[in-house]
Amino acid sequence: MQNPYLDQVIEGDCTEVLFQLPAESVDLIFADPPYNLQLRSELWRPNLTKVDAVDDEWDQFASFEEYDAFCRQWLEGCRRVLKPDGTLWVIGSYHNIFRLGRLLQDLGFWILNSVVWVKTNPMPNFRGRRLTNSHEILIWASRSPEARYSFHYKTARSSNDDLQLRAEWHLPLCTGAERVKWNGQKAHPTQKPEALLQRIILLCSNVGDVVLDPFLGVGTTAVVAKRLGRHYIGIELDPTYCQLARERLAQVVPLPETLLSYPVEQKMPRVPFGALVEEGIVEIGERLRSLDGRFEAVVLANGVVQAGEIAGSIHKVAAQLLGVPSVNGWTFWGVMRGGKLRSLDALRQEILQKHGQVVQGTEHIQPSLLGED
Ligand SMILES: C[S@@+](CC[C@H](N)C(=O)[O-])C[C@H]1O[C@@H](n2cnc3c(N)ncnc32)[C@H](O)[C@@H]1O
Repeated sequence: MQNPYLDQVIEGDCTEVLFQLPAESVDLIFADPPYNLQLRSELWRPNLTKVDAVDDEWDQFASFEEYDAFCRQWLEGCRRVLKPDGTLWVIGSYHNIFRLGRLLQDLGFWILNSVVWVKTNPMPNFRGRRLTNSHEILIWASRSPEARYSFHYKTARSSNDDLQLRAEWHLPLCTGAERVKWNGQKAHPTQKPEALLQRIILLCSNVGDVVLDPFLGVGTTAVVAKRLGRHYIGIELDPTYCQLARERLAQVVPLPETLLSYPVEQKMPRVPFGALVEEGIVEIGERLRSLDGRFEAVVLANGVVQAGEIAGSIHKVAAQLLGVPSVNGWTFWGVMRGGKLRSLDALRQEILQKHGQVVQGTEHIQPSLLGED
């Protein structure tokens, strides 16, 4: 049965709603909680206009203890709904992010990265008594250290001029036409830029996945998820924000699937080395040679390979011979065919083609992304 909460904006308190949703049903969570800014007085610009600061009731907590208890509750709820291989992103500022980081670790989440969002157009520091507050911090965490989480490494690199994407992201604040208006004024004090959500959702989820935001505000996460062909679930306390989010979502047309697929990211269908032996592509007793010509191993009947005293998978034996933690055995080993040394990877492609599956661009994907040990 389909989850009845899919593609809904749910008006309610996330510390309760998260315990009503089906357990382990969400692939990705983006949480932009109250920051507990503790603003003590009004803030004025030098030109005597008042700064529209975040002094809303939803950002008021009597003490750090009260804030921590609240965050523990919603983080426990997130942990409950997250699939074992799902991940969670949480955003905050110096006011709250360190408390959130500690709570995440206390609850068993496994922190994968912290990302600094460098605001290219920050609000100046009007009092001149501190540095300009020009960044926010995001924490990306999996449910456990063992989680096999989604991360589109190649997408990140390809969209960054073939350089590994770093953990500081330069993006502007949400301004202009993107800013949701209500009665001619900006509707929400902390609306996040769609570009930030787009990056996270593209990197850490797949078409058809479920993306949840427990503090939906005016709907940014859901809007981007819908546009990118993901399902969304949004929870928001404030009925006006819920209404604005629904109106915003009604305008969103999902992108066609042809624009959402990334051939370079296709997961390698699993072809164990034993299948090559079973199909007679590599023979029992045949010698494997490392492509650099330095090592040899013999293929045993059960698909295990042996090099002297070392026996195991093609990956493990290669790693032990080289004395490194992991090696992609498919691109390390080859066999002689027609007087030439052919890589096991090339032979594997043959088996895939025979089964009607063609894999593109695998040669640069890390072994870990191919699900190999
Ligand atoms: C920092 S804002 C999120 C803004 C959102 N990312 C956006 O782009 O519009 C936090 C939101 O959480 C909502 N909120 C506060 N406490 C909540 C709770 N217990 N359950 C659900 N929503 C809550 C507030 O009304 C506010 O809209």
